[in-house]
Amino acid sequence: MSHSHDRDDEITNRSSNLSFDQVLHTRLNRRSMLRGGMVSTVGIAGATSIGALALTACGGGSDAVSTPTPTPAAENLLSFPAVAKNTTDAVTVPAGYNAKVINALGDPLFAGTAAYKNDGTDTDFDKRSGDHHDGMEYFGLSAAGARDASSSTRGLLVTNHEATSQDGVSSVYVHVTGGTKTLPRPASEVDKEIPLHGVSIVEVLKTSGASGSWATVQASTFNRRITPDTPIVLSGAGAGNFTKTKYSTNGLAGRGTLNNCGTGYTPWGTFLTGEENWAGYFTRNATDNTARGGATAKSVVALNRYNRSQGSASRHGWESAGADDRYARFVISQTGASTDGTDDYRNELNTFGYIVEIDPYDKSVAIKKRTSLGRFAHESAVFSKATAGKPLAVYMGDDSRGEYIYKFVSTQNWSAADASPANRITTGDKFLDDGKLYVAKFNADGTGQWIELNISNALIAAYATYAFASQADVLVNARLAADAVGATKMDRPEWCAVHPTTGEIYYTLTNNANRKLEPTGSQFGLDAANPRAYTDAFLGDKAGNAAGTNGPGNVNGHIIRVKEAADASNATAFAWDVYLFGAEAGASASMVNLSGLTADNDFSSPDGLWFSPTSGIGWIQTDDGSFTDQSNCMMLAALPGKVGDGGEKTLAYTKADGTTSSVKTYAGKAASNTTLKRFLVGPVDCEITGITETPDGSTIFVNIQHPGERVTVAATAMPSSYVSHWPGNAGYGAGGADARPRSATVAISRTDGKRVGI
Ligand code: FEO
Ligand code: CA
Ligand code: CA
Repeated sequence: MSHSHDRDDEITNRSSNLSFDQVLHTRLNRRSMLRGGMVSTVGIAGATSIGALALTACGGGSDAVSTPTPTPAAENLLSFPAVAKNTTDAVTVPAGYNAKVINALGDPLFAGTAAYKNDGTDTDFDKRSGDHHDGMEYFGLSAAGARDASSSTRGLLVTNHEATSQDGVSSVYVHVTGGTKTLPRPASEVDKEIPLHGVSIVEVLKTSGASGSWATVQASTFNRRITPDTPIVLSGAGAGNFTKTKYSTNGLAGRGTLNNCGTGYTPWGTFLTGEENWAGYFTRNATDNTARGGATAKSVVALNRYNRSQGSASRHGWESAGADDRYARFVISQTGASTDGTDDYRNELNTFGYIVEIDPYDKSVAIKKRTSLGRFAHESAVFSKATAGKPLAVYMGDDSRGEYIYKFVSTQNWSAADASPANRITTGDKFLDDGKLYVAKFNADGTGQWIELNISNALIAAYATYAFASQADVLVNARLAADAVGATKMDRPEWCAVHPTTGEIYYTLTNNANRKLEPTGSQFGLDAANPRAYTDAFLGDKAGNAAGTNGPGNVNGHIIRVKEAADASNATAFAWDVYLFGAEAGASASMVNLSGLTADNDFSSPDGLWFSPTSGIGWIQTDDGSFTDQSNCMMLAALPGKVGDGGEKTLAYTKADGTTSSVKTYAGKAASNTTLKRFLVGPVDCEITGITETPDGSTIFVNIQHPGERVTVAATAMPSSYVSHWPGNAGYGAGGADARPRSATVAISRTDGKRVGI
């Protein structure tokens, strides 16, 4: 089933890194220092043909370090009743919990901005909440309006606005009759669509009582919009030669941020946002290869690797809105006569694809793109446990099929004083501009390596596909450097999260339609870290996805986890296992449902992932189009163990010619309803993404992205064409039962005021 969101994972990785056939016969020589005797063989699956796998669907002033020690599980975590799978156009949470919408697409963020009418006539989106709420972090505020990391009654919610719900090129819900579906796009429409993207900062206040009633503060002086037009500094070792444009002839500045997906919370109290599917906003003309010197020219190889082959059309056609530079920048063809790109926007694409740092407390300091962390389709950026005297690691993933897992290690060591610096953004300079970037290689024996992406690496220096000129070139074209060193192609790395006590790193691998037993062309073979390719039945869903079959491929995704050697942030070796395999509860226990999921916790396509630093609960959020015949997307609460708590599993496959093959993997301990439980189900055709909490754990904030995203009928048929009317149908904002759907933030707390998740 091709979900409409799948424009996000086009394949551009066609490098010839290790495939299944190469790793299958690797002699298992497991490193005792990493895994010891922890693993035992627990199951060998019988030979099963792909055909037999077709499944029937069933069923205070304290600027404390931001990694507090979790409270032990004395509160009996996960004692709430599991929320049943459902396809209701509503947010469902367990009995005993309140879920209150506090912010949605279009809500005014400044004094004097009109209430959102939600009928397509609204304007001024640079003064309103953006669309497609995604990753989000909470920053505590004192009564005096200063940073207070312990405040659980007043704070700033900083939210990514990833994209918009589209019908063709139009952001359909912000135009009266759905907008213009052909080029050129009217400037009046484009001027609405551009500022729907970026980041919003809004003050939130708890107005009453233990059970809490949160609301945003419309006129707060902290409120802020960062859009694709906002001036931004390009910082770090990648900025300069490769980022020169007509807008910034020294390559040290850019405009705005795009397709902001996952987030990060720095140990010094700033916000990180990841730029994910930015490439699609830009267009390249059909003869640009020639202008750039031919198909093997370096910039052409790089553009192809980052999914902008010549002739690529843009997602919205913003470039067609007029001659103004803020539209023209979306044409990245080489048109100027300069040799360095300072007279056109041929290098504009190199100014996107970064982790961006924002100080939410201070509008006066620069927003900085941290180019040293590499350029790719970034999701979240999550820190290792901050330890005095040790460097910080930042873990990151690249979300496209067959892309890689990365980490950055700071040159500078952490000290306690760094947690509450006088100047937060210069602390960012200290830890995020200077360091080493690594990519992960997962071995067939359960070990792995972090391989540094450095121009001095012989494989990078001698890479035949692309002649790297400098370390800046390596960082800006990190995907190509990772290809060169033979990194492991993963099943779409989404968010990562660091467990607050074990320090182990968890990565969601959401799904991969192109993971195959017998890959051809640009498909990927099975390996130990990406071991499943199977077929699943689909009965059709309320979003309009037709009944059919999903797969073969990694239909439901999995969550892999990593233990650094000696628990060191700068380790270059690690052990790994697969913490959880997504699956339907009724799927084959030997080949698909390898984690023993039940009706209380089966899920598909894990995406958002975050550990509460107070409770230690891992929150897993889904963005799925394969299980939506059974349930809308969801959020689960998890209490995982650690790497090695399960054992080896061998999956046996029968190939098309009748011969057999097998792949060995390492599965974490099977789930139970005391370690994994469904907590929330969202409205129709949404994705659940983004979660943060108050420091006392009494409220979690969760984002509902793109309810009713799919609009495929004529605009004149609106609103009858909407598959969701949330949150209007829940009484939030204008429109009622016929409302246009809106992405939104929900505050969730227990009616008794105790911590969420018990
Ligand atoms: Fe924006 Fe990969 O999800
Ligand atoms: Ca199914
Ligand atoms: Ca995501």
